[in-house]
Amino acid sequence: MQSPDILLGVNIDHSATLRQARYRDNALDRGKMVEPDPVEIALHAQRAGADAITMHLREDRRHIQDSDLHLMRKMIQVPLNLEMACTTEMIEIALQVKPEVVLLVPEGRNEVTTEGGLDVAANQAAITDAVKRFSDAGIATSLFIDPDSAQIQASVETGCAYVELHTGAFAHAFYETPEQAKAELERLRHGAVRAHEGGLKVNAGHGINYVNIRLARELPHLHEMNIGHSIMCRALVTGITEAVREMKALMNGKLR
Ligand code: PXP
Repeated sequence: MQSPDILLGVNIDHSATLRQARYRDNALDRGKMVEPDPVEIALHAQRAGADAITMHLREDRRHIQDSDLHLMRKMIQVPLNLEMACTTEMIEIALQVKPEVVLLVPEGRNEVTTEGGLDVAANQAAITDAVKRFSDAGIATSLFIDPDSAQIQASVETGCAYVELHTGAFAHAFYETPEQAKAELERLRHGAVRAHEGGLKVNAGHGINYVNIRLARELPHLHEMNIGHSIMCRALVTGITEAVREMKALMNGKLR
């Protein structure tokens, strides 16, 4: 049987980063010359074949603003994947906005982007409680974790529907030696198998680009990959439509 296509979640945060670099004080002035607009980018990505749109509402609102999230909810037809920390404020926002999926991540104020995975094992009670509240509201939960057996087991026990395996270490290793990249891929492979055996859907993301995707796509049981930085960078050169089309084709072995 042919395996189904891997879905592409396009993370549009970096378009908001670019907007904030110039228009921090005018980010809400929609309709004026405030650019780029993450919602407009998402609509183009959707038309080009994105299967989901991912956005991270950070506690410090450094890129995506609350108004971006509310407008995105109204405008896109593909599932909305809301990346966020497991805090009281964010849980309330998610329950109000009702994305199809909440992606829980750790959040550090000094990090440039999300660094390590969530420590589900150490925060299992709070995460289990959040998963239940989301589930009661018809929202699926995904946990962003390192491909580590203890974290996978703890994730299964929370009752979440998905894990997103952190591919950052693999992406870093790609710049070192082929052996290191292979070793990280092997860790991810084991993680994907364990998560699948635990009844979870397996997503992956972080640091995936147009080169390393050729290896990453070989991971077993992949449901969806969330990709941001590389697609936004490619879009500066080719436009968002071509950038999304090329990544989707590459991740499904339809482009060599
Ligand atoms: N998945 C998660 C949980 C993330 O935090 C990020 C980065 O915001 C991504 C995927 C996408 O990573 P990248 O921008 O490196 O493609």
